[in-house]
Order: sequence, then structure tokens, then C-alpha cells
Amino acid sequence: MDATIVPKIQKHYPVLLKEIISVISPRHGGTFIDCTFGQGGYSKKILDFENTKVIALDRDKESEKIANQLKQNFEDRFIFKNIKFSQLNNLKLKNENIKGVIFDLGYSYTQIKDPQKGLSFDSDGNLNMQLGLNSYSAQDAINKLEEKELEKIFKFFGDENEAKYIARNIIKERSKNIIDTKVLVEIIDKSKKRKNFKVHNATKVFQALRIFVNKEISELIFGLINAAKVLKKGGVLGVVTFHSLEDKIVKYFFKSLSENKSISRYSPVAKQAETLFNLIQKKPITPSDEEVSENPPSRSAKFRYVIKKSDFYNFDTDIEEQFRNYMEIENYGDKL
Ligand SMILES: C[S@@+](CC[C@H](N)C(=O)[O-])C[C@H]1O[C@@H](n2cnc3c(N)ncnc32)[C@H](O)[C@@H]1O
Repeated sequence: MDATIVPKIQKHYPVLLKEIISVISPRHGGTFIDCTFGQGGYSKKILDFENTKVIALDRDKESEKIANQLKQNFEDRFIFKNIKFSQLNNLKLKNENIKGVIFDLGYSYTQIKDPQKGLSFDSDGNLNMQLGLNSYSAQDAINKLEEKELEKIFKFFGDENEAKYIARNIIKERSKNIIDTKVLVEIIDKSKKRKNFKVHNATKVFQALRIFVNKEISELIFGLINAAKVLKKGGVLGVVTFHSLEDKIVKYFFKSLSENKSISRYSPVAKQAETLFNLIQKKPITPSDEEVSENPPSRSAKFRYVIKKSDFYNFDTDIEEQFRNYMEIENYGDKL
């Protein structure tokens, strides 16, 4: 979901469900990994097809309650693990015929509605933002990080033009008071010279803090690498993203592993490296007008996928180098 405001919709919608099912084809059976189980929208649909098995992951312990209900109906075909998807290579998957690994990034309607999670700037919740299995909260970050570090978080993860003033005013305010959600929104409002009447002033800073607290960039990068490893030949690796930085990472990873690159530009005959994936569609799949009108937060969803060409496990990728500066910003959290 894109907005950090509690949406007006009243229930959870699995985004792009029809399109994803058509791409991963569970009607032929096989094992699927649902890396972001949430309310189980994708897992339930896959289990409707006979001869399928679902291994579902979610970092939020709350998801386990829904998973336990599903387990009652599909005892032999459904497994849930409360782990982060960056750890998916630690699951014992050698004998599994993994036909699809699917990610639906971000948070669900239920999570943004939960004041304990503190994801929303228009709730009275505390400044938390932990989705689960975290080491620190947004409260820790806002009250303990240095001014320059906060500025970089807002700028790189939120694309916030006034990151510098917001960071400066946070440092001033925190010497007098503990900063909670309400105070943070007031600081952002006060700091922003250019008002945007379409989007709430606090949207970008809240998105940036959520990415930082949950290490979403490192999670995505290691999630993609490990998903590529465990998938079997012919299997689909698919990701639904909700903001441009996530989409940039997924697009780069898929493109770099599915394009023939010349090994050396100085060699007389350009040698071609073997590609590992097939990229069938360069453009992402986006929700229909009908889906957007039923579920407005789906408007920023983009689904990209690739198909694995052979049964490899280890492979070379420069994705970590490409996005190292973002991961280094996330590592500011190590000292919290
Ligand atoms: C948009 S929701 C998924 C909704 C789901 N597709 C459905 O139909 O119900 C995203 C879910 O991913 C989980 N999540 C986010 N980052 C994660 C990570 N790094 N590892 C595991 N789960 C994660 C969140 O806790 C949330 O439940």
C-alpha cells in the first residue's frame, strides 16, 4: 500500500490477485512460496487448486492467527513460518518443487489500522512502525539518530525535499520533549515551506521511517537473491511493489539477470554471458480501473515477474553493489 493514512476501505483486498494467479498457473500443481502471507489472500487462492502446496512467510506474528485457521483446512498442503523473507534460504527446501515465489511488499490494511503498529500519521498510535521481528522502533530512530542520519533517511527513503529542515527541527524539539506521532506530524507541518494540498505533508517522512525501521531495502535485496536460488527451472519469481524505490530494485534485478551482457567491451568478439531468467514482459502489470475503484490504495501497485531458465542455486549478481548506499543508511539502525 502506498499511503500512510488509514484508508477509507473497510476490508482487505489481495492486490492484482487475478493477474498473479494467471501468471503463476497453480492449476498445474506444485509448491508456491507466499513470502508476504498477510491476510492470506494469495495463499488461499493457490490452495483452491488441487495438488498445490503453499509455504507462507510473514514477519508479523499476527498473521499466524490467520495461518492457523487455514492450516485446519489444508493440514498437508500448508505451512506457515513467522520469519523475514530475507531468511527464506534457511528453510529446508531441497526436495520441494518450487514453482513460484511471490512477494506483495509493504503492509496490509489490517496493519495500518492497528494503532499499536503506529504506521499511520492520522492515528493516535505511538511512533512504532515495526512490522515484526525488528530490533528498534521509529521512536528510537527519531529520538536517538544524528541530524545528518535522519536527513538522509527522509531524503533517500522518502524523496523528501525538505529533509534537512525536518531533521533540524526534530533535533531541536527532542532536547525538550519525547517525540511521538502527533509531535512529529506538527514538526513536519512547521518545517515544510512548500505545502502539497494533494498529499498529506507527513506522507514521505512516514514512508521513509517505515522503510528504515523494517530495513525494507535490505530485506527486498536478500529476499530476491534467495528466492532466485530456491526456485526450480520454469518457476516464476514475481513481486508486487508500491513505491518507486522498490520498483527500481526489482526492475534492475530482473533486467540484469535476463539480459545478455557482453563480458568485455574490449574483446573483439563480444562474448555473451548466459542469462538466468526470461523476462516475458518489460512493462509491469498494473491494476485495472475496476480494481482501483474498488480498492484505491492498489493504484500504485506494479507487478513484475521473471521465469527461471535452469536449475542453478548460486549465481552472480551486482544488486548489492548497485544499492549499497541505501543499505548503508539502513545500517544506521545497528547502533540503536
Ligand atoms: C501487503 S501485505 C500482503 C497481503 C497478502 N498478499 C494478502 O493477500 O493478504 C504485506 C505483508 O508482508 C509482510 N512483510 C513485510 N515485509 C516482510 C518481510 N521482510 N518478511 C516477511 N514478511 C514481510 C507484512 O507483515 C504484511 O503482512
